[in-house]
Amino acid sequence: MPKVVFLDQGVRGELPEGTTPLEAARILGARMSSICGGAGTCSTCRVACVVNPENLSPIDPLEEAYDMGPGVRLGCQARILGDVGLRIVRIERAVLD
Ligand code: FES
Repeated sequence: MPKVVFLDQGVRGELPEGTTPLEAARILGARMSSICGGAGTCSTCRVACVVNPENLSPIDPLEEAYDMGPGVRLGCQARILGDVGLRIVRIERAVLD
């Protein structure tokens, strides 16, 4: 089973291949936003794979549509295929005047 480490949260574990980072966060107790509940429609579950990014599933068209920048994935859409080190990407709150 792949080893999954949330580097910014200090949690780790071994989870079945095919687990999403969002599922991994829930199981391991990492704090990851998921406003749409994993439907792929909010993009609040952003995660950067900073160790072994090749061990995530290929980027799908839904993720490309959000244009999140290099190395940033949707935690509810990517699948963990091998050992990875992840860092949760926070979205800044909008400040309205
Ligand atoms: S939880 Fe909403 S896009 Fe991933």
